[in-house]
Amino acid sequence: MPDGRQVTPTRSAYLELKDERQLIQEGYEFLDEKRMIVAQEMLRQLAAAHLGQAVEHLGHELARSCPEDIALVATDHDTLDITDIHAIQAAFEAHRPDWLINAADYTAVDKAESEPEKAAAINATAAGNLARICRERNVSMVQISTDFVFDGAQSTPYLPGDETHPLGVYGATKLEGERAVRSALPGALIIRTSWLYSAHGNNFVKSMLTLMQSRDELSIVADQVGSPTWAATLANTAWRLMRQDAQGIYHCSDNGVASWYDFAVAIQEEALAAGLLQRAIPVRPIRTEQYPTAAKRPSYSVMDKQSTEAALGETFPHWRVSLRRMIAEVAGAD
Ligand SMILES: NC(=O)c1ccc[n+]([C@@H]2O[C@H](COP(=O)([O-])OP(=O)(O)OC[C@H]3O[C@@H](n4cnc5c(N)ncnc54)[C@H](OP(=O)(O)O)[C@@H]3O)[C@@H](O)[C@H]2O)c1
Repeated sequence: MPDGRQVTPTRSAYLELKDERQLIQEGYEFLDEKRMIVAQEMLRQLAAAHLGQAVEHLGHELARSCPEDIALVATDHDTLDITDIHAIQAAFEAHRPDWLINAADYTAVDKAESEPEKAAAINATAAGNLARICRERNVSMVQISTDFVFDGAQSTPYLPGDETHPLGVYGATKLEGERAVRSALPGALIIRTSWLYSAHGNNFVKSMLTLMQSRDELSIVADQVGSPTWAATLANTAWRLMRQDAQGIYHCSDNGVASWYDFAVAIQEEALAAGLLQRAIPVRPIRTEQYPTAAKRPSYSVMDKQSTEAALGETFPHWRVSLRRMIAEVAGAD
């Protein structure tokens, strides 16, 4: 990726065309002076200025690790609905990005079972439309996807080329999205990730930290195994693969495997050590049948990351190391 290119992550921030005074009146601030300097136009600077306030989760990490020579323009659901083709066209016209990162997602795995059309509109149709517009405009694209494209029947890590077989509507729509993107834009970069968490937004780690303060004990599923991923790991990987103009499917997660139960126990241990929690509560392992959900989930969704690690020239951190860093960030020590 040449220096100075513009990158637009959907999901995550702001494309609204406002002038500087209006933004300042609304209380927005420029959060990262260095990144502002690389932006070429005031509009881009203003959009990027929104980032720190509007973005959560992956979007936040993409902003935080954005290389200094890249001007990042970000959007969120309120400012750019990716199912609105006209809004997308207008955004491309306004910002003329060189790259697009699509991290927008219908994330409600269980609700998707009763809202398949809505899930498909966002995860599949809109992703395909974005890819088509990227092709028309010679824009490179990153599509963020999921371990839920696999059924978990394997007992060894899934390779990028392994057969997919989603168990539920969510995974099926994400797989449809991958296919739509690749069909419209064969050179697209698709990054599958798993068990994503960060200090921002809602996710398993944040939920556990809240529940561990309010409950006297917790029961957590111990027979679903995967690899937790700090959003910072994913964001860094995305930037580095983009820099290499990587194409095709790559897997990205932190290293090591855990059940949700293992993960919860580790969250409590790390949070106690960091002073985020004052007391330990019992965490009990349960079977999936004891925690019924609308959507079936893969019992094993560990992904093989050797091709990604080879491209990056280094191995991913162990999930426990990343968890410690995230907990330190929440505790204000990072
Ligand atoms: N979370 C995980 O454990 C996990 C696991 C594997 C893969 N991933 C992948 O990681 C990526 C990010 O997921 P995440 O968990 O970070 O999700 P997230 O924080 O909930 O982000 C998804 C965002 O997409 C937005 N969105 C939904 N519909 C939209 C639309 N029509 N137009 C524009 N924006 C829309 C949502 O906005 P609203 O909330 O306002 O609707 C939300 O801000 C996704 O591609 C997902 O498949 C996540």
